[in-house]
Amino acid sequence: MSADPASIRVRYPLAPGGEVTLSIAPGTSILAASLAGRVPHAAVCGGRGRCSACRVRVLEGALDQPPPDSAELATLRPLLARDPSLRLACRLKPRRDIAVEPVMPVGQNDQSPDLTGRLLTMTVMFVDLRGFSRMAAQRHPYDVVFTLNRYFDLAATAIAQAGGRVDKFIGDGIMALFGIGEDDQSGPRAALRAAKAIAAAMRALNHELESELSTPLRIGMGIHFGKAILGRFGWGLNGEAAPETAIGDVVNIASRLEGLSKTYACQLVMSEAVAQCLGSDGTRFDAHQVEIPNHDGLICLRVVPQADDIPV
Ligand code: FES
Repeated sequence: MSADPASIRVRYPLAPGGEVTLSIAPGTSILAASLAGRVPHAAVCGGRGRCSACRVRVLEGALDQPPPDSAELATLRPLLARDPSLRLACRLKPRRDIAVEPVMPVGQNDQSPDLTGRLLTMTVMFVDLRGFSRMAAQRHPYDVVFTLNRYFDLAATAIAQAGGRVDKFIGDGIMALFGIGEDDQSGPRAALRAAKAIAAAMRALNHELESELSTPLRIGMGIHFGKAILGRFGWGLNGEAAPETAIGDVVNIASRLEGLSKTYACQLVMSEAVAQCLGSDGTRFDAHQVEIPNHDGLICLRVVPQADDIPV
């Protein structure tokens, strides 16, 4: 048993380089412990309890741990008949000392922190061009390509100038990351500066294309702040490493917030965690609480009708 009641020992007796013991604070998952302690540990779904890649065999201390919740049970059910000692490392937060063995093999190259992923604080922003499909159906394909590239160029420039990076283009949408690994509020502030600049750039673009467009281009954005896993997941082309990206609850919630900008007919929906970087200025925007699929509890958000009104 750990001598310090405020810490819990997680032992990996069969770790590749020899036994490893880590001390973790209560409330820390086994997967977070492995990632922080550089113990090779597979994880594919970003700790959402869906992929089962992080499963461990509990070698000691199983009866002292909290029982699996319904999400963990649902994912493990097909496997438990063969091995009842299994738990999901991303869901299991031990309350007493425990010894475990990660089950899924981690390849030699996968031992790079890039491939096992690193749990980092970051701000995630999604941007979407509204009504693009309708515009694409009504205009000449080359006009569509021209307009789309102008929008991508303006939005990506605004993101880069605010200190962020484009993670990926998804159809007519953009996912961007800010303040990776920074625990203070610089990430949320940078993302809000980008949102404000994108809104201003879109207004200028609409003015420029006024005679060409039957209706102005509109955007919807969502921003959330928290911890996500950053790593290289998937396949790279021509044997190259897969591009680095972020996965996890923060990414899913940011994407949902962007979707909610349609519901609220606004340019931006930011989580309360992001709005806090504005101090009392953040409270001028309407607050709501919503349920997000696959997320426990309600998310507090703030609705920004026009992103160029953000006081950053
Ligand atoms: S179930 Fe996917 S990382 Fe745990």
